[in-house]
Amino acid sequence: MIEGKAKMPESVGIIMDGNGRWAKGKGVPRLAGHNAGMASMKKIVIASSNLGVKNLTVYAFSTENWKRSTEEVSGIFNLIVKYVKSELAELIENNVHINILGDYSMLPEASVKSIDKLVSETENCSGMNFNIALNYGGRDEIVRAVNEIIADREFTDEPGISRAVTEDEISAHLYTGSLHNDIPDPDLIIRTSGEERLSNFLIWQSAYSELMFTDTLWPDFTPEEYEKMLEAYTHRKRRFGGREKEDK
Ligand code: FPP
Repeated sequence: MIEGKAKMPESVGIIMDGNGRWAKGKGVPRLAGHNAGMASMKKIVIASSNLGVKNLTVYAFSTENWKRSTEEVSGIFNLIVKYVKSELAELIENNVHINILGDYSMLPEASVKSIDKLVSETENCSGMNFNIALNYGGRDEIVRAVNEIIADREFTDEPGISRAVTEDEISAHLYTGSLHNDIPDPDLIIRTSGEERLSNFLIWQSAYSELMFTDTLWPDFTPEEYEKMLEAYTHRKRRFGGREKEDK
């Protein structure tokens, strides 16, 4: 068991990578890998809630993932519909609040409807936040934030007066700062499958995140390995560019 809960990460990001390689290794279609990845994701949501992780953010579909075959892309979107059908009641029962990071309006209508339902029906849940990055890209998120700030100023600023944009303003206009619940920057980002990069995931918010990598392919990632990583996190010394920060 993990001792000293105060040192546990409050906010965790996960890049769920390796579904395709898992499927290849088993000689099954890529979509079977994503299906197994979804099962893994469900277990990690429950584990997060049990381990006191208040915010879990997963990278489910990036702005770059549209480059994959139509069959794979629509397969992933169908999985979302399936997920909402099978999981919504349990998520509500566990008081899990869902946020979506990314513009999901361009997904197929059935997926958009399911996601709207997922978001609206968990709106009053006040337990953990489960944040799903969908059609999400970190650079796209920053560009949107800056454009929103410019557009707001056209209405509010005196003509001819220019003010510098601040970090706080950008943070407030990111998906993580402008949703119903503010989502704290991730204390820890985990990537599975042996790849060691962020791939445009929470690039603004991860400025001081601890990073952890595992060779385990996402469908094989277990709550036990997750708990070990969270435990390892409690031994990291976080300095935030200055001296060591006292844990809350
Ligand atoms: C990365 O593995 C995984 C994805 C791009 C999709 C992840 C999606 C899920 C786990 C399902 C999400 C479901 C919901 C309801 C949000 P990869 O395909 O890049 O693996 P590879 O690098 O081995 O090919």
